[in-house]
Amino acid sequence: MAMATGKLVVLMMVIMLEGTRAISLCDMNDDGIEACRPSVTQPNPVDPTPLCCDALKGANLSCLCSYKNSMWLPSLGIDPALAMALPPKCNLDMPPDC
Ligand SMILES: *[C@@H]1O[C@H](CO)[C@@H](O)[C@H](O)[C@H]1NC(C)=O
Repeated sequence: MAMATGKLVVLMMVIMLEGTRAISLCDMNDDGIEACRPSVTQPNPVDPTPLCCDALKGANLSCLCSYKNSMWLPSLGIDPALAMALPPKCNLDMPPDC
């Protein structure tokens, strides 16, 4: 049941985003998000690529932090726990209050 609901949410997101095309998440554009996607998706997340780390360098990490308990990341197919663990893998520091 939960799976089906998740898919429905994703479908609705896709429809809603269809008009704008570009997804922007905390100053990361959709190219950056796509570059990082294999690293923040279950199962078998991979180490971030240099492309992903570059995108992450330009991202607003305090903003990313504020999404850690949100349903927005899962609806994009992103695992929040993996997303929070990603900046350190690129030698970037998460904000101390995260
Ligand atoms: C980063 O995101 C936080 C929280 O959304 C916001 O308050 C802050 O102004 C942003 N910083 C920059 C540099 O955009």
